[in-house]
Amino acid sequence: MTQAKASGAGLRILVSAGPTYEDIDPVRFIGNRSSGKMGFAVAEAAARSGARVVLVAGPVALPTPPGVTRLDVRSAAQMHEAVLGQLPADIYIGAAAVADFTPRQVAGSKIKKREGESGLTLDLVRTPDILAEVAGHAARPRLVVGFAAETDEVERYARDKLARKRLDLIAANRVGVAGSGFESDDNALTVYWTDGQRALGPAPKTVLAGQLLELILERLPAG
Ligand code: CTP
Repeated sequence: MTQAKASGAGLRILVSAGPTYEDIDPVRFIGNRSSGKMGFAVAEAAARSGARVVLVAGPVALPTPPGVTRLDVRSAAQMHEAVLGQLPADIYIGAAAVADFTPRQVAGSKIKKREGESGLTLDLVRTPDILAEVAGHAARPRLVVGFAAETDEVERYARDKLARKRLDLIAANRVGVAGSGFESDDNALTVYWTDGQRALGPAPKTVLAGQLLELILERLPAG
């Protein structure tokens, strides 16, 4: 017998997913290796649970999950505006790999190499921390979930982010090892909260997303 799945009926769940691209000039950008698969799978699981789901997606070539409202963005600044514009929500799941830095200015025309030039220095500025802003917002969702991709000391860095960004849950995974993270279809996560933790997977990202959503609905305070 399969266990009854937690219901998200009546909830509004906001998910961000994918990378962001920070333009340098009309033909170049700074990006990162996020495939968006995990965030899209979480949005799909959320819609299946009966919730109303808005997915703010960075540049990825993934189909929109059934029943999900999708807003496409490119840069961290656009994602910031789109996410904040979708509040209030009951739950925010920040699964996007937001670029931490963006060029101070986008060059209007293609940057050309000059004779004798041995390098190029880019002037980068920090992007807004969307997750921390949502967690500190006047219209703070009842549950704010972040992600942490770490190469080492996973628990220490994840718990540090949980506290520093004032999150309710953080889903952490180890990157840089075979069979997890980035483009892989399989993943394993450990989810941390102030006084607990739960290991999920290894499993295909779609299965893992279902397990993560179950835990999120379980941890949602009554409201
Ligand atoms: N995040 C965000 N806005 C940013 C940067 C990150 O919302 N400008 C969110 C991501 O969506 C993710 C979490 O914050 O949920 C990741 O935290 P972060 O501190 O950015 O992790 P790393 O990029 O791994 O940074 P660090 O170099 O500190 O490990």
